[in-house]
Amino acid sequence: MAQSIFMITPRVRLHSSLQGDELRPDLPVKPPPPLHPTTFEPAKPEDLSPLFPDELIKQEATNDRFIDIPEELNSELRDWRNCSNTPARIYYKYEGVSPAGSHKPNTAVPQVWYNAQQGVKNVVTETGAGQWGSSLAFACSIFGLNCEVWQVRASYDQKPYRKLMMQTWGAKVHPSPSSITEAGRRILEKDPSTPGSLGIAISEAVEVAAANADTKYCLGSVLNHVLLHQTVIGEECIKQMEAIGDTPDVIIGCTGGGSNFAGIAFPFIREKLNGKINPVIRAVEPAACPSLTKGVYAYDYGDTAGLTPLMKMYTLGHDFVPDPIHAGGLRYHGMAPLISHVYELGYMEAISIPQTECFEGAIQFARSEGLIPAPEPTHAIAATIREALRCRETGESKVILMAMCGHGHFDLPAYEKYLQGGLVDLSFSEEKIQASLANIHRLVS
Ligand SMILES: Cc1ncc(COP(=O)(O)O)c(C=O)c1O
Repeated sequence: MAQSIFMITPRVRLHSSLQGDELRPDLPVKPPPPLHPTTFEPAKPEDLSPLFPDELIKQEATNDRFIDIPEELNSELRDWRNCSNTPARIYYKYEGVSPAGSHKPNTAVPQVWYNAQQGVKNVVTETGAGQWGSSLAFACSIFGLNCEVWQVRASYDQKPYRKLMMQTWGAKVHPSPSSITEAGRRILEKDPSTPGSLGIAISEAVEVAAANADTKYCLGSVLNHVLLHQTVIGEECIKQMEAIGDTPDVIIGCTGGGSNFAGIAFPFIREKLNGKINPVIRAVEPAACPSLTKGVYAYDYGDTAGLTPLMKMYTLGHDFVPDPIHAGGLRYHGMAPLISHVYELGYMEAISIPQTECFEGAIQFARSEGLIPAPEPTHAIAATIREALRCRETGESKVILMAMCGHGHFDLPAYEKYLQGGLVDLSFSEEKIQASLANIHRLVS
């Protein structure tokens, strides 16, 4: 059986200590003994021997505070007790406990609040994975705003329960491209069976906001204020790591538009720039949509129709439509301008990983930690596993901090596909990227 490499919380480390601990020696009042069934005297060890082996009878009666766990048994327990067959120490910051199940409410709630403060009654947005749309719907339900969401077609079809979640919180949901907008109609004319993309869905929502004075647009990633709201993640991590007494050597997060990654990484980059620490900071993107690792750093539109301002960012071209991988939230052609800038300055690195390796990692993580990750953070998990395995080879005991930015409870069809052997790596097309890059407006270099 494959062994887990995860060793994440202090709780877990306790279990790898080769000792079991017994409560009785520490109790101020001892519990009453079991009684023999016919004499009603306290039962002796030999009374139990018809039922139990000797060692278990000893443990039944022991007053020792700790019991050694035999090595052979311990190695079996490690299979699900997350012990250390890597010398790396792995920590993750889990955002799946929010009402919508990811980091996205960290910015949805402030964005809707600021809109409400200004008297805005309607907000519109796009959603890729459905996580952002449901977070905005949730935030609107708190502050009483109307919410309309364009959900990328591939995700709308793959995740009907995300749509229901948004509707439960009171939002209106359209598949994107839709025939409601000019941008959607133009795309549908060219390709009626397109899986859609975040770029197209953004065009639709922006078009509606621009045409209606009483409606504002909210974005779930990319922009500076979104990244800023998400830094609550990294600020908490700094405090928590200090409390534990560990310093991360490697910080890993997945990147779509970059908000969860920036959320965990930017506060540590600040500390790095102040000379306090020097962690490696690694973004992980899908091999099917590799903006940092295969894109160019140029001015480009944030959406497909060219309705947004041009931003200088790593981009695959605004009309690049990524293959419909299950990590819908990572199917964005560009990268946040601030992350692109930091990458250009050399303060961080980036890699890309194909989806089968990511799901393999997700299964290992789920069986180790019990949490089922959303498809997006499976990229961070796979990269963390790569790093931990390198540590196993080199013997280095690095401290790895990973952003586990959401749960996958509405993504189980993707798991079903993986478990049934039907999930494949979608072919990466260099030609498709080159064709799309040819359309970029390199107005300012
Ligand atoms: C769970 C989850 N993680 C990550 C992302 C990617 O977005 P970002 O790169 O802005 O964190 C999304 C986007 O929808 C998501 O739902």
